[in-house]
Amino acid sequence: MSFFDTDFHCHVLPGIDDGAANIEVSLELIRMQAQQGVKNIVATPHYRMHSQSVQHFLKKRKAAYELVMENRFDGMPNIMLASEIALERNLSELNDIEQLGNTSMNTLLLELPFEPYRRWMVEEIEEISYKTKMQIIVAHLDRYVDIYDTRDYNDILSIPDAIFQFNLSAFSKRSSKKLIKRLIKEDYPILFGTDCHNLSSRKPNFDVLARSMKKYEPHMLVERLFE
Ligand SMILES: [Fe+2]
Repeated sequence: MSFFDTDFHCHVLPGIDDGAANIEVSLELIRMQAQQGVKNIVATPHYRMHSQSVQHFLKKRKAAYELVMENRFDGMPNIMLASEIALERNLSELNDIEQLGNTSMNTLLLELPFEPYRRWMVEEIEEISYKTKMQIIVAHLDRYVDIYDTRDYNDILSIPDAIFQFNLSAFSKRSSKKLIKRLIKEDYPILFGTDCHNLSSRKPNFDVLARSMKKYEPHMLVERLFE
């Protein structure tokens, strides 16, 4: 298990969010990931505090996972359960938030709202980090290049010990590629995910990782996840 064979962010579980619509799509997505070199999948369906309880979400996630397992195929990647938690005010007060994370790697994937940067966002993340003692991963940092300026990004990059996740589609956009290069140059911990949702507009593209990051040596904080 390594940086180069693990998809840290994807929506392949069937019928739980805006990802795989059914088990057929789910299996096809997983098959594509496997063909692209994925050996470990961190399944990260969307979780929104105000639309459902943690326990209800976990129940749905378990059922979706079991359906995939009933249909498992030879050479299927290992699947770990987690979620992509939408960051909102007072999220740090949510009970059982730890259970939404990847408990085998002790990570928590948080998604910043797609709106102009505000200071509360970083404060909330720091509070969650402090309370849960879990490794925070900030989802798809590339998504905000058109709405954040350098100062906003610097604020987010100042979160102690956070890991910054990029979608592999970021390599096909000049501004987000520039951000990846900056983080590598300044030695920030980064990792990648396909964030795949479907078989058309957002399909698995894990092959981009090996192509784009050939000589990369993952940051110590990222390496530690695999120990
Ligand atoms: Fe996502």
